[in-house]
Amino acid sequence: MQSAHSGSDIQISGFERDRHWLFVKRIAKSHWNLLGEDGPGCSQVKKWSESDAVTKGYINFRVLEVGGVPKGFAISTLPYPSSSENCYIATVLQLAVSESRQGYGGELLADAEARIREKDLTCPIMLGLAPGNEKALAFFKKYGFMVDTREPSGLQLYKY
Ligand SMILES: CC(C)(COP(=O)(O)OP(=O)(O)OC[C@H]1O[C@@H](n2cnc3c(N)ncnc32)[C@H](O)[C@@H]1OP(=O)(O)O)[C@@H](O)C(=O)NCCC(=O)NCCS
Repeated sequence: MQSAHSGSDIQISGFERDRHWLFVKRIAKSHWNLLGEDGPGCSQVKKWSESDAVTKGYINFRVLEVGGVPKGFAISTLPYPSSSENCYIATVLQLAVSESRQGYGGELLADAEARIREKDLTCPIMLGLAPGNEKALAFFKKYGFMVDTREPSGLQLYKY
């Protein structure tokens, strides 16, 4: 499924291994310590790139392209039951761009949110950040995320 964004040649579409893997691997490698990867081998993103959950649509693995050139990717979940929160939650697992402050991150986040809200209008969208990731903290706050004050680290964020 593709979503065209009016007034630009930005397109966000589902991850396709043949077209997108080398780009995703490069970006994930350069930010592995910020993306929850356990090393530059990018085992998490590789796992998702091969996962049935992506083809079945439980996990949204999306790639943003400008004029056909990949510029960013986002991996998020659809709402799922969380025993710790006692409600449905959705999660942004990874989001990264190759060029900052062009609005690409915001477009990817809006796309992930739209897909989550198609399923559930009320569930919190949650994510955790790596210590010291001030850029991402500013980014998610800009797009309406709040810091979970129950977490002393201040690195858990949510948005209703
Ligand atoms: C976080 C990230 C996705 C933001 O993407 P982006 O395309 O730059 O975001 P947008 O252009 O939509 O939004 C820009 C906002 O992000 C924040 N931001 C982006 N770059 C920043 C920087 N160098 N310093 C401080 N804040 C920054 C600011 O809030 C900025 O808003 P402003 O320009 O009005 O100050 C990108 O920096 C990135 O890929 N980071 C590495 C991976 C990562 O940390 N991902 C998040 C954890 S999963």
